[in-house]
Amino acid sequence: MKLKLAAILWLFLFTAAYALEARAETGYDAWLRYAPLEKTSISKYEDFPTNIAVTRDSVVLQSAQQELIRGIQGMLGVSLRPVPNQSGGRAIILGNVKDLRDRVPGLHPSREVAGEGFWLKATKLRGFDCLVVAGGSERGVLYGVFALLSKIARGENVASLDEIWQPYAPIRWANQWDNLDGSIERGYAGRSIFFENGNVRDDLTRVRDYARLLASVGINGCAINNVNANPRALEPDFLPQLARVADVFRAWGIRLSIAVDLSSPKLIGGLDSFDPLDPRVQEWWRNKVAQFYKQIPDFGGFVVKADSEGRLGPSAYNRTPADAANVIARALKPHGGIVFYRAFVYNHHLDWRDPKNDRAKAAYDNFHPLDGQFDDNVIIQIKHGPIDFQAREPVSPLFSGLEKTNEAIELQITQEYTGQQRHLCFLAPMWTEVLDFDMHAGRDSTPVKDLVSGKTFHRPLGGFVGIVNAGLDTNWLAHPLAMANLYAFGRLAWNPDLSPRTIAEEWTRLTFGNDSLVVSTIVNMQLSSWPVYESYTGPLGAQTLTDILGSHYGPGIESSEENGWGQWHRADKEGIGMDRTVATGTGFVGQYRPRVAQIYESPATTPDELLLFFHHASYGHVLHSGKTVIQHIYDSHYEGAARVDEFVRQWKSLKEHIDTARYDDVLARLEYQASHAIVWRDAICNYFLRESRIADASGRAGHFPNRIEAEAMQLQGYGPVEVTPWENASGGKAIECQQSQGCSASFPFTRVAGRYALDIVYFDQKNGESKFRVFVGDKLIDHWTADDQLPSTKIGADSSKRHRIDGLELHPGEQIRIKGIPDRDEHAALDYVELTPTPK
Ligand code: GCU
Repeated sequence: MKLKLAAILWLFLFTAAYALEARAETGYDAWLRYAPLEKTSISKYEDFPTNIAVTRDSVVLQSAQQELIRGIQGMLGVSLRPVPNQSGGRAIILGNVKDLRDRVPGLHPSREVAGEGFWLKATKLRGFDCLVVAGGSERGVLYGVFALLSKIARGENVASLDEIWQPYAPIRWANQWDNLDGSIERGYAGRSIFFENGNVRDDLTRVRDYARLLASVGINGCAINNVNANPRALEPDFLPQLARVADVFRAWGIRLSIAVDLSSPKLIGGLDSFDPLDPRVQEWWRNKVAQFYKQIPDFGGFVVKADSEGRLGPSAYNRTPADAANVIARALKPHGGIVFYRAFVYNHHLDWRDPKNDRAKAAYDNFHPLDGQFDDNVIIQIKHGPIDFQAREPVSPLFSGLEKTNEAIELQITQEYTGQQRHLCFLAPMWTEVLDFDMHAGRDSTPVKDLVSGKTFHRPLGGFVGIVNAGLDTNWLAHPLAMANLYAFGRLAWNPDLSPRTIAEEWTRLTFGNDSLVVSTIVNMQLSSWPVYESYTGPLGAQTLTDILGSHYGPGIESSEENGWGQWHRADKEGIGMDRTVATGTGFVGQYRPRVAQIYESPATTPDELLLFFHHASYGHVLHSGKTVIQHIYDSHYEGAARVDEFVRQWKSLKEHIDTARYDDVLARLEYQASHAIVWRDAICNYFLRESRIADASGRAGHFPNRIEAEAMQLQGYGPVEVTPWENASGGKAIECQQSQGCSASFPFTRVAGRYALDIVYFDQKNGESKFRVFVGDKLIDHWTADDQLPSTKIGADSSKRHRIDGLELHPGEQIRIKGIPDRDEHAALDYVELTPTPK
């Protein structure tokens, strides 16, 4: 059958099936959906090849071939026919450049296609229109196939393709913080796809599909266990289990690696020491590594977190990180393995009373003096900022503090401090700011991306590591829009020159299709989501003002203070911020190269968004924006919360354009985010209003004319409780019900008759499923169960939730009653209600 005819037939069938198909979206296929192409695009592929040939047999090339067949079948409805090489006809030919050159004379790329790079070339071979996907290696071919499929999914013309792409850096790794028991540290999307009950899972289907997703954006390695490593991962009987994962990864060009506990020689090795300079310890690592390579010949190497957050490390023997890293590196070297030694080394028992102490200085202080002492197969893995993935941080000065050492930037895809996949926060704009930041480490510009990729100081290794923490949730990262962060990480690791807009657009087209309203709306939402999140959670570089001692989720303004963790913002009655200057502060600024240090040393030249990271400023300090610090805090929080409402409205405009499942899921998340942004807004504004004693010039902070506090209602059974910290509940109080049969809180409606939205703010802990019912007079108007799994077992900002009842017709004198029925340790607690007039 002629392709044209076949295409028309498919088009017809798919158009009929499309509505159905669209409704069945689960997010599992992420950006690899290969949905039937829209009518407007399919005609571009009328002459698309119908045969597929591969130059040689290998697991990676098989993956590439199968992927292409699958993708073309899905998008164009064409079954590509595998044919032997050189058999003629219109074919897609896959192979590495060298093989192709031998077999297809005259095929010469305009420049070298090396290593993991690829060349996509439309050309005539023996008179037939063909497409060549040529890789510098088998991985290169695989990446080329994914790139070609992506182009088709986005409706790009491929008839005259001639593109060569090379990755920016050799290291493009994912890290998972999975524990062997199946939980995931800082994972927000279900349990581990790798482990269960202390073992590797029997069914590795999800692992295979995860590897495919990673490979599709050019990621070539993955460490699968928590950096707070369980030494069991190194036990001999565990190794065959890891080998199973490696086998699955191999087909997608992903190298397996694991995080190791540096004290393993002592913990599981039967030695009385783990001193890296002890020859017995060195031998132990050599033997261990040899065992690994026997079973996993392409094993990637080890990730090391040591002398950090309670993990043992070389300091126990007065040795340096270089001593420790090199011992393992030397064991790995003959096999081609790498050590990723994390620069996240700091003392979490710092004396907070000493104004010169500063956790931000730790990475540089620990690693800069060792520059040049690390072996060539060691990479120092450096978090992008000097603290810990906050909503805003300056770039880590260590990037320009190592000239003779390989480095990689560690970025966090899992949204630990950026809303835990319950808040929309697209991180590509943050990451590109970091990657593009000029560290002034040489005569020409030296952006972070060039330092980490090894370009600046001609290092043999380097690149990008992303903490993903994908889990068993069907759509991998829980929030359907959060997958854009994994996509963006891979794309930026491949090409950090891509703009966040380009990446967001690619991702949206691949994930939701090419409907222009959908694309423009989602791209705009994604691009503004990080500044919006920042604006209601962490003003002016004061970091995420969250509960740093617990969930890292909701507000916890004082939790960072007066303890040794060193995430201090030093807010007091006069001002806020850490003085990190050389002149009067901790001296952190001096870790940057002079041209950067000069910018941050003075408040006059420090950009507003980082002012409080570098300086202690009075509330009355006037920013470059012309606002005072305190007014900025009020304004940004009110504006930020309002912007999330705007997200909800924007999303609603897509109702008819997106499958129901994903539409409803995202809508529910955005509505929740809008309510939680108000919790953040109120906590921070009320706190700083009380601290500064300076009123909000716009009269909003501390004034809630539409609010009725639960503790002010007529209570039957309910009793008032204090909430700590006070700012995390309205009025600092809530009400709780201790009676199993339930309690009631009522109030009379006293405003003018009309239509209102009634918001009920209650607490939904994860240790119970209370029920709520709302009555107007005797009439039940709504009911729900508080069965969310928010990250708290207590009432407070983490568990605060809002239930909206829209379009209520109310008349003066009517009694509104909320009945709460507690369950287990959750006491149907209520914070307040808000009545907002709504237009008819
Ligand atoms: C953060 C995070 C920890 C993690 C650590 C790390 O502090 O909260 O859970 O172990 O980073 O990166 O090692």
